[in-house]
Amino acid sequence: MTSALMSNYGNPELEFDHGKGCFLYTATGERYLDFTMGIAVNCLGHCHPHLVAALQQQAEKIWHSSNLFRIPQTERLAARLVELTFADRVFFSNSGTEAVEAGFKMMRRYHYSRGDTDRVRIIALTQSFHGRTLAPIAASANPLHCEGFLTGDPGFDQVQWGDIDALRAAITNKTAGVILEPIQGEGGIRVTPFDYLRKVRELCDEKGILLMFDEVQSGVGRSGHLYAYQASGVTPDLLASAKGLGGGFPIGACLSTERVAAPMVAGTHGSTFGGNPLATAVGNAVLDVIMAPGFLAESMERAAYLRAGLEKIIADFPLVVAEQTGLGFMVGLKCVIPNTDVIAALKEARMLVVKAGANTIRLLPPLNITTTEIDLAVETMRGVCARLTQSA
Ligand SMILES: Cc1ncc(COP(=O)(O)O)c(C=O)c1O
Repeated sequence: MTSALMSNYGNPELEFDHGKGCFLYTATGERYLDFTMGIAVNCLGHCHPHLVAALQQQAEKIWHSSNLFRIPQTERLAARLVELTFADRVFFSNSGTEAVEAGFKMMRRYHYSRGDTDRVRIIALTQSFHGRTLAPIAASANPLHCEGFLTGDPGFDQVQWGDIDALRAAITNKTAGVILEPIQGEGGIRVTPFDYLRKVRELCDEKGILLMFDEVQSGVGRSGHLYAYQASGVTPDLLASAKGLGGGFPIGACLSTERVAAPMVAGTHGSTFGGNPLATAVGNAVLDVIMAPGFLAESMERAAYLRAGLEKIIADFPLVVAEQTGLGFMVGLKCVIPNTDVIAALKEARMLVVKAGANTIRLLPPLNITTTEIDLAVETMRGVCARLTQSA
Protein backbone atom coordinates (compact mmCIF):
# COMPACT_ATOMS: atom_id res chain seq x y z
CA MET A 1 0.00 0.00 0.00
CA THR A 2 1.40 3.44 -0.87
CA SER A 3 1.65 5.97 1.92
CA ALA A 4 2.03 9.73 2.19
CA LEU A 5 4.24 9.14 5.22
CA MET A 6 8.00 9.22 4.85
CA SER A 7 9.62 5.83 4.60
CA ASN A 8 11.85 6.16 7.67
CA TYR A 9 9.85 3.52 9.56
CA GLY A 10 10.02 1.09 6.65
CA ASN A 11 6.30 1.23 5.83
CA PRO A 12 4.93 -1.49 8.16
CA GLU A 13 1.78 -3.30 7.04
CA LEU A 14 0.14 -4.45 10.26
CA GLU A 15 -2.36 -1.96 11.69
CA PHE A 16 -4.47 -2.07 14.82
CA ASP A 17 -7.90 -0.76 15.60
CA HIS A 18 -7.82 -0.92 19.38
CA GLY A 19 -6.03 -2.35 22.38
CA LYS A 20 -6.97 -3.65 25.81
CA GLY A 21 -4.50 -4.70 28.48
CA CYS A 22 -1.94 -7.04 26.95
CA PHE A 23 -3.68 -7.35 23.60
CA LEU A 24 -3.97 -5.45 20.31
CA TYR A 25 -6.86 -6.07 17.92
CA THR A 26 -7.12 -5.51 14.17
CA ALA A 27 -10.27 -4.04 12.64
CA THR A 28 -11.31 -7.57 11.67
CA GLY A 29 -10.92 -8.79 15.27
CA GLU A 30 -7.60 -10.65 15.06
CA ARG A 31 -5.96 -10.59 18.48
CA TYR A 32 -2.22 -10.15 19.07
CA LEU A 33 -0.40 -10.62 22.36
CA ASP A 34 1.60 -7.41 22.61
CA PHE A 35 5.04 -7.71 24.21
CA THR A 36 6.27 -4.54 22.49
CA MET A 37 3.99 -2.22 24.48
CA GLY A 38 4.77 0.63 22.13
CA ILE A 39 8.50 -0.04 22.73
CA ALA A 40 8.39 0.03 26.54
CA VAL A 41 5.82 2.82 26.67
CA ASN A 42 2.44 1.37 27.70
CA CYS A 43 3.68 0.23 31.10
CA LEU A 44 0.13 -0.54 32.28
CA GLY A 45 -1.07 -2.10 29.04
CA HIS A 46 -3.47 -0.63 26.53
CA CYS A 47 -6.28 1.63 27.77
CA HIS A 48 -5.81 1.13 31.50
CA PRO A 49 -9.06 2.43 33.07
CA HIS A 50 -7.32 4.72 35.57
CA LEU A 51 -5.25 6.33 32.81
CA VAL A 52 -8.23 6.64 30.46
CA ALA A 53 -10.26 8.32 33.22
CA ALA A 54 -7.42 10.75 34.01
CA LEU A 55 -7.08 11.70 30.35
CA GLN A 56 -10.82 12.06 29.82
CA GLN A 57 -11.28 14.18 32.92
CA GLN A 58 -8.39 16.43 31.97
CA ALA A 59 -9.60 16.68 28.35
CA GLU A 60 -12.81 18.28 29.59
CA LYS A 61 -10.98 20.84 31.73
CA ILE A 62 -8.03 22.24 29.81
CA TRP A 63 -5.78 20.79 27.12
CA HIS A 64 -3.02 23.32 26.93
CA SER A 65 -2.19 26.65 28.52
CA SER A 66 1.64 26.81 28.05
CA ASN A 67 4.43 27.44 30.49
CA LEU A 68 3.42 31.09 30.68
CA PHE A 69 1.19 29.87 33.53
CA ARG A 70 1.39 27.49 36.47
CA ILE A 71 -0.04 24.05 35.75
CA PRO A 72 -1.11 22.31 38.98
CA GLN A 73 -0.84 18.71 37.83
CA THR A 74 2.57 19.44 36.26
CA GLU A 75 3.78 20.90 39.57
CA ARG A 76 2.37 17.83 41.30
CA LEU A 77 4.07 15.35 38.99
CA ALA A 78 7.40 17.17 39.41
CA ALA A 79 6.99 17.17 43.20
CA ARG A 80 6.20 13.44 43.19
CA LEU A 81 9.24 12.62 41.05
CA VAL A 82 11.41 14.69 43.39
CA GLU A 83 9.94 12.89 46.39
CA LEU A 84 10.59 9.49 44.82
CA THR A 85 14.12 10.02 43.48
CA PHE A 86 17.52 11.70 43.97
CA ALA A 87 16.25 14.80 42.14
CA ASP A 88 15.44 18.29 43.39
CA ARG A 89 14.11 19.71 40.12
CA VAL A 90 12.32 18.53 36.97
CA PHE A 91 12.09 19.86 33.40
CA PHE A 92 9.30 18.33 31.32
CA SER A 93 9.68 17.60 27.62
CA ASN A 94 7.61 15.63 25.11
CA SER A 95 9.96 12.75 24.37
CA GLY A 96 13.01 10.89 25.54
CA THR A 97 15.29 12.57 23.03
CA GLU A 98 14.30 15.99 24.30
CA ALA A 99 14.88 14.92 27.90
CA VAL A 100 18.38 13.79 26.94
CA GLU A 101 18.99 17.00 24.99
CA ALA A 102 17.90 19.08 28.00
CA GLY A 103 20.39 17.14 30.12
CA PHE A 104 23.21 17.80 27.64
CA LYS A 105 22.47 21.52 27.72
CA MET A 106 22.34 21.48 31.51
CA MET A 107 25.72 19.74 31.75
CA ARG A 108 27.32 22.47 29.64
CA ARG A 109 25.48 25.29 31.38
CA TYR A 110 26.54 24.00 34.80
CA HIS A 111 30.23 24.32 33.96
CA TYR A 112 29.66 27.59 32.08
CA SER A 113 28.01 29.09 35.16
CA ARG A 114 31.13 28.20 37.17
CA GLY A 115 33.40 29.93 34.64
CA ASP A 116 34.60 26.59 33.23
CA THR A 117 33.54 27.49 29.69
CA ASP A 118 35.76 24.89 27.99
CA ARG A 119 33.97 21.96 29.62
CA VAL A 120 31.56 21.18 26.79
CA ARG A 121 32.35 17.60 25.75
CA ILE A 122 30.17 14.69 26.78
CA ILE A 123 31.26 11.06 26.98
CA ALA A 124 28.88 8.23 26.04
CA LEU A 125 29.32 4.45 25.92
CA THR A 126 29.47 2.01 23.01
CA GLN A 127 26.14 0.37 21.98
CA SER A 128 24.25 3.21 23.67
CA PHE A 129 21.09 4.79 22.34
CA HIS A 130 20.04 8.25 23.43
CA GLY A 131 17.57 9.36 20.75
CA ARG A 132 17.43 10.71 17.22
CA THR A 133 18.04 14.47 17.24
CA LEU A 134 21.53 15.72 16.38
CA ALA A 135 23.15 15.71 19.82
CA PRO A 136 21.82 12.26 20.88
CA ILE A 137 22.87 10.63 17.59
CA ALA A 138 26.32 12.19 17.99
CA ALA A 139 26.46 10.78 21.53
CA SER A 140 25.42 7.24 20.57
CA ALA A 141 27.57 7.38 17.41
CA ASN A 142 25.74 4.54 15.68
CA PRO A 143 26.94 4.90 12.05
CA LEU A 144 23.48 3.90 10.75
CA HIS A 145 21.90 6.78 12.65
CA CYS A 146 24.64 9.35 11.95
CA GLU A 147 25.29 8.89 8.25
CA GLY A 148 24.57 12.08 6.33
CA PHE A 149 23.50 14.05 9.39
CA LEU A 150 26.55 15.23 11.31
CA THR A 151 29.16 17.79 10.47
CA GLY A 152 32.41 18.83 12.15
CA ASP A 153 33.06 17.77 15.73
CA PRO A 154 29.72 17.69 17.54
CA GLY A 155 31.43 17.46 20.94
CA PHE A 156 30.95 13.84 22.00
CA ASP A 157 33.43 11.09 22.84
CA GLN A 158 32.73 7.37 23.01
CA VAL A 159 34.28 4.79 25.28
CA GLN A 160 33.86 1.04 25.64
CA TRP A 161 30.85 0.07 27.78
CA GLY A 162 32.00 -1.28 31.15
CA ASP A 163 35.68 -0.27 30.78
CA ILE A 164 36.48 2.13 33.62
CA ASP A 165 40.10 2.61 32.52
CA ALA A 166 38.96 3.68 29.06
CA LEU A 167 36.61 6.19 30.67
CA ARG A 168 39.33 7.56 32.92
CA ALA A 169 41.64 7.96 29.91
CA ALA A 170 38.94 9.77 27.89
CA ILE A 171 38.21 12.46 30.51
CA THR A 172 40.02 15.73 29.75
CA ASN A 173 39.73 19.31 30.97
CA LYS A 174 37.11 19.76 28.24
CA THR A 175 34.79 17.04 29.58
CA ALA A 176 31.47 18.24 31.00
CA GLY A 177 30.00 14.87 31.90
CA VAL A 178 29.14 11.27 31.14
CA ILE A 179 25.84 9.80 29.93
CA LEU A 180 24.95 6.13 30.20
CA GLU A 181 21.97 3.78 30.37
CA PRO A 182 21.88 1.74 33.63
CA ILE A 183 20.25 -0.91 31.43
CA GLN A 184 21.05 -0.55 27.74
CA GLY A 185 17.87 -0.96 25.70
CA GLU A 186 18.37 -0.70 21.94
CA GLY A 187 21.94 -1.98 22.40
CA GLY A 188 20.61 -5.39 23.48
CA ILE A 189 19.05 -5.22 26.99
CA ARG A 190 22.34 -5.21 28.85
CA VAL A 191 22.46 -4.41 32.56
CA THR A 192 25.40 -2.05 33.09
CA PRO A 193 27.29 -3.69 36.00
CA PHE A 194 26.49 -1.92 39.28
CA ASP A 195 30.13 -2.03 40.31
CA TYR A 196 31.04 -0.15 37.12
CA LEU A 197 28.29 2.42 37.85
CA ARG A 198 29.80 2.97 41.28
CA LYS A 199 33.26 3.47 39.80
CA VAL A 200 31.89 5.89 37.19
CA ARG A 201 30.24 7.88 39.96
CA GLU A 202 33.50 8.04 41.92
CA LEU A 203 35.44 9.05 38.81
CA CYS A 204 32.95 11.82 37.95
CA ASP A 205 33.20 13.16 41.51
CA GLU A 206 36.99 12.99 41.43
CA LYS A 207 37.13 14.90 38.12
CA GLY A 208 34.37 17.39 38.97
CA ILE A 209 32.18 16.31 36.03
CA LEU A 210 28.51 15.35 35.89
CA LEU A 211 26.86 11.95 35.57
CA MET A 212 23.62 11.55 33.66
CA PHE A 213 21.59 8.34 33.53
CA ASP A 214 19.38 7.76 30.51
CA GLU A 215 16.40 5.85 31.92
CA VAL A 216 14.07 6.59 29.03
CA GLN A 217 13.60 2.85 28.50
CA SER A 218 14.61 1.32 31.84
CA GLY A 219 12.59 3.74 33.97
CA VAL A 220 9.10 3.78 35.45
CA GLY A 221 8.92 0.40 37.12
CA ARG A 222 10.29 -1.94 34.48
CA SER A 223 13.29 -2.87 36.64
CA GLY A 224 11.16 -3.35 39.76
CA HIS A 225 12.14 0.13 40.98
CA LEU A 226 10.75 3.43 39.77
CA TYR A 227 14.17 3.92 38.15
CA ALA A 228 16.75 1.19 37.61
CA TYR A 229 19.53 3.21 39.27
CA GLN A 230 17.67 2.63 42.55
CA ALA A 231 18.59 -1.05 42.28
CA SER A 232 22.27 -0.10 42.05
CA GLY A 233 22.48 2.39 44.89
CA VAL A 234 24.38 4.79 42.59
CA THR A 235 22.77 8.19 42.08
CA PRO A 236 23.27 10.43 39.05
CA ASP A 237 23.29 14.24 38.81
CA LEU A 238 20.77 14.14 35.97
CA LEU A 239 18.31 11.56 34.69
CA ALA A 240 16.30 11.39 31.46
CA SER A 241 12.86 9.77 31.68
CA ALA A 242 10.08 9.33 29.11
CA LYS A 243 8.27 6.32 27.57
CA GLY A 244 6.52 4.64 30.54
CA LEU A 245 6.11 7.94 32.37
CA GLY A 246 3.09 8.72 30.18
CA GLY A 247 1.85 5.13 29.85
CA GLY A 248 1.27 5.85 26.14
CA PHE A 249 0.79 9.60 26.24
CA PRO A 250 3.87 11.54 25.03
CA ILE A 251 5.94 12.97 27.87
CA GLY A 252 9.59 13.26 28.83
CA ALA A 253 11.36 14.59 31.87
CA CYS A 254 14.87 15.62 32.80
CA LEU A 255 15.43 15.25 36.54
CA SER A 256 18.37 16.90 38.27
CA THR A 257 19.90 17.99 41.52
CA GLU A 258 19.57 21.59 42.66
CA ARG A 259 23.18 22.50 41.89
CA VAL A 260 22.80 21.38 38.25
CA ALA A 261 19.37 22.96 37.88
CA ALA A 262 20.36 26.30 39.44
CA PRO A 263 21.98 27.81 36.31
CA MET A 264 18.83 27.05 34.27
CA VAL A 265 17.36 30.48 34.98
CA ALA A 266 14.39 31.97 33.12
CA GLY A 267 14.88 31.88 29.37
CA THR A 268 17.71 29.31 29.25
CA HIS A 269 15.56 26.43 27.93
CA GLY A 270 11.97 25.72 27.02
CA SER A 271 9.33 23.74 25.20
CA THR A 272 5.87 24.82 24.07
CA PHE A 273 4.28 21.49 24.91
CA GLY A 274 6.59 20.31 27.69
CA GLY A 275 4.59 19.80 30.89
CA ASN A 276 1.30 19.86 28.98
CA PRO A 277 -1.69 19.30 31.32
CA LEU A 278 -2.96 16.20 29.47
CA ALA A 279 0.48 14.58 29.61
CA THR A 280 1.08 15.29 33.27
CA ALA A 281 -2.46 14.28 34.27
CA VAL A 282 -1.70 10.88 32.75
CA GLY A 283 1.81 10.87 34.28
CA ASN A 284 0.29 11.34 37.72
CA ALA A 285 -2.18 8.53 37.01
CA VAL A 286 0.73 6.23 36.05
CA LEU A 287 2.45 6.98 39.36
CA ASP A 288 -0.82 6.38 41.25
CA VAL A 289 -0.84 2.82 39.97
CA ILE A 290 2.80 1.81 39.92
CA MET A 291 3.69 3.42 43.26
CA ALA A 292 0.67 1.90 45.04
CA PRO A 293 1.90 -0.30 47.91
CA GLY A 294 2.86 -3.76 46.70
CA PHE A 295 2.38 -3.07 42.98
CA LEU A 296 6.03 -3.28 41.93
CA ALA A 297 6.79 -6.18 44.27
CA GLU A 298 3.91 -8.20 42.79
CA SER A 299 4.91 -7.17 39.29
CA MET A 300 8.43 -8.51 39.92
CA GLU A 301 7.01 -11.83 41.15
CA ARG A 302 5.35 -12.16 37.77
CA ALA A 303 8.59 -11.09 36.03
CA ALA A 304 10.35 -13.94 37.85
CA TYR A 305 7.57 -16.29 36.69
CA LEU A 306 8.08 -15.19 33.06
CA ARG A 307 11.85 -15.55 33.41
CA ALA A 308 11.47 -19.10 34.78
CA GLY A 309 9.39 -19.96 31.69
CA LEU A 310 12.05 -18.43 29.45
CA GLU A 311 14.82 -20.43 31.16
CA LYS A 312 12.99 -23.63 30.20
CA ILE A 313 12.62 -22.40 26.62
CA ILE A 314 16.36 -21.71 26.46
CA ALA A 315 17.10 -25.19 27.84
CA ASP A 316 14.68 -26.91 25.45
CA PHE A 317 15.43 -24.96 22.26
CA PRO A 318 19.16 -24.11 22.28
CA LEU A 319 19.26 -23.92 18.48
CA VAL A 320 16.92 -20.92 18.59
CA VAL A 321 17.58 -18.94 21.77
CA ALA A 322 20.69 -18.77 23.93
CA GLU A 323 20.34 -16.53 26.94
CA GLN A 324 18.05 -14.10 28.71
CA THR A 325 19.29 -10.69 29.83
CA GLY A 326 17.98 -7.55 31.55
CA LEU A 327 16.24 -6.93 34.82
CA GLY A 328 12.63 -7.44 35.91
CA PHE A 329 10.26 -6.84 33.01
CA MET A 330 12.98 -5.41 30.78
CA VAL A 331 13.76 -8.74 29.22
CA GLY A 332 16.17 -9.55 26.42
CA LEU A 333 16.39 -12.93 24.74
CA LYS A 334 19.56 -13.55 22.75
CA CYS A 335 18.82 -15.48 19.60
CA VAL A 336 20.96 -18.11 17.91
CA ILE A 337 19.23 -17.78 14.55
CA PRO A 338 18.64 -14.23 13.23
CA ASN A 339 16.39 -12.31 15.64
CA THR A 340 14.31 -11.10 12.68
CA ASP A 341 13.34 -14.73 11.94
CA VAL A 342 12.18 -15.23 15.53
CA ILE A 343 10.23 -11.96 15.46
CA ALA A 344 8.55 -12.90 12.15
CA ALA A 345 7.60 -16.38 13.41
CA LEU A 346 6.19 -14.96 16.64
CA LYS A 347 4.19 -12.42 14.66
CA GLU A 348 2.71 -15.24 12.60
CA ALA A 349 1.71 -16.85 15.91
CA ARG A 350 0.15 -13.51 16.91
CA MET A 351 2.70 -12.47 19.47
CA LEU A 352 4.55 -9.17 19.03
CA VAL A 353 8.10 -8.53 20.24
CA VAL A 354 10.70 -5.97 19.19
CA LYS A 355 14.31 -6.43 18.17
CA ALA A 356 17.39 -4.99 19.85
CA GLY A 357 21.14 -5.04 19.21
CA ALA A 358 23.35 -8.12 19.73
CA ASN A 359 20.80 -10.33 17.90
CA THR A 360 18.38 -9.95 20.80
CA ILE A 361 14.59 -9.78 20.98
CA ARG A 362 12.99 -7.57 23.60
CA LEU A 363 10.07 -8.78 25.72
CA LEU A 364 8.43 -5.71 27.23
CA PRO A 365 5.08 -6.79 28.67
CA PRO A 366 2.97 -4.42 30.74
CA LEU A 367 3.95 -4.36 34.42
CA ASN A 368 0.44 -5.51 35.37
CA ILE A 369 0.39 -8.58 33.07
CA THR A 370 -1.30 -11.61 34.65
CA THR A 371 0.21 -15.08 35.06
CA THR A 372 -2.43 -16.43 32.63
CA GLU A 373 -1.17 -14.00 29.99
CA ILE A 374 2.42 -14.98 30.78
CA ASP A 375 1.42 -18.64 30.33
CA LEU A 376 0.00 -17.75 26.92
CA ALA A 377 3.23 -15.95 25.96
CA VAL A 378 5.44 -18.82 27.08
CA GLU A 379 3.24 -21.40 25.34
CA THR A 380 3.27 -19.35 22.12
CA MET A 381 7.04 -18.97 22.29
CA ARG A 382 7.53 -22.68 22.94
CA GLY A 383 5.44 -23.52 19.86
CA VAL A 384 7.38 -21.06 17.71
CA CYS A 385 10.78 -22.24 19.01
CA ALA A 386 9.81 -25.88 18.38
CA ARG A 387 8.93 -25.01 14.78
CA LEU A 388 12.08 -22.97 14.29
CA THR A 389 14.20 -25.79 15.76
CA GLN A 390 13.00 -28.12 13.04
CA SER A 391 14.16 -25.75 10.30
CA ALA A 392 17.37 -24.64 12.11
C1 LIG B 1 17.56 4.85 26.33
C2 LIG B 1 16.80 5.72 25.37
N1 LIG B 1 17.07 7.03 25.33
C3 LIG B 1 16.42 7.86 24.51
C4 LIG B 1 15.43 7.39 23.65
C5 LIG B 1 14.70 8.34 22.76
O1 LIG B 1 13.40 8.52 23.21
P1 LIG B 1 12.27 9.06 22.23
O2 LIG B 1 12.13 8.08 21.12
O3 LIG B 1 11.06 9.20 23.11
O4 LIG B 1 12.74 10.39 21.74
C6 LIG B 1 15.11 6.03 23.66
C7 LIG B 1 14.10 5.49 22.75
O5 LIG B 1 14.02 4.33 22.47
C8 LIG B 1 15.82 5.18 24.54
O6 LIG B 1 15.56 3.85 24.58
